[in-house]
Amino acid sequence: MSKIVIAIDGFSGCGKSSTAKAVAKALGYTYIDSGAMYRAATLHFLNNRTVLTNPKDVEKSLGSMEVGFQINPNNGKQEAYLNGLNVEDEIRTMRVSDYVSEVSKIKEVRQELVSQQQKLGKKKGVVMDGRDIGTVVFPDAELKVFMTADLSIRAERRQKEILEKGDLVEIQKIIDNLDERDKTDSSRKESPLKKAEDAVEIDTSFLEFEDQVDRIVSLAKEKIG
Ligand code: DC
Repeated sequence: MSKIVIAIDGFSGCGKSSTAKAVAKALGYTYIDSGAMYRAATLHFLNNRTVLTNPKDVEKSLGSMEVGFQINPNNGKQEAYLNGLNVEDEIRTMRVSDYVSEVSKIKEVRQELVSQQQKLGKKKGVVMDGRDIGTVVFPDAELKVFMTADLSIRAERRQKEILEKGDLVEIQKIIDNLDERDKTDSSRKESPLKKAEDAVEIDTSFLEFEDQVDRIVSLAKEKIG
């Protein structure tokens, strides 16, 4: 059976990651969270107090950064690592969320991470979610999905997710963060968030999680043949 690349793009907090993870599981594919790579880079830049407007500083930080995924031996899950350390939880904090769009704007950061993402998807059989997967990382992906959902619904879902990790963040703070990131991600010069012409759009506002997963798995099976 031939393997394909599935690109899932969309706005912040639409449930791309959990959907992509479930689609990958259903198909026996590898899931790659490209947002986690931008988040890990952001954490590295914050830790190094990298001055984003200084190209030399950015280059130096990129040179000392290794981001990737490994299986966490404590829970058997594939999680994000930065320079050998597990950063899965730290990269989801508001400190990183508030800064990640600024770091993601930088051309050199994108070049480095896009090239790593392309290597990870080279053998196909991957589901990758992000903002530019169907437009820049894998413009030839066999299946492209663009997910959307109402801002308030996205914020409620994100608040629940953060709460499950033990933190309570005010809903307005989450709305502002999602809204700000959508604007920055869509208007940036380098590979802005936009729907690929050949992407299938799915509005998840009123869809059950299982239904959105089934929809994508069916589309994938049609492509796989
Ligand atoms: O998917 P996420 O919300 O964890 O992504 C965090 C940020 O990373 C997002 O606001 C923009 C950036 N990002 C990006 O620029 N390109 C991607 N392919 C994935 C994420």
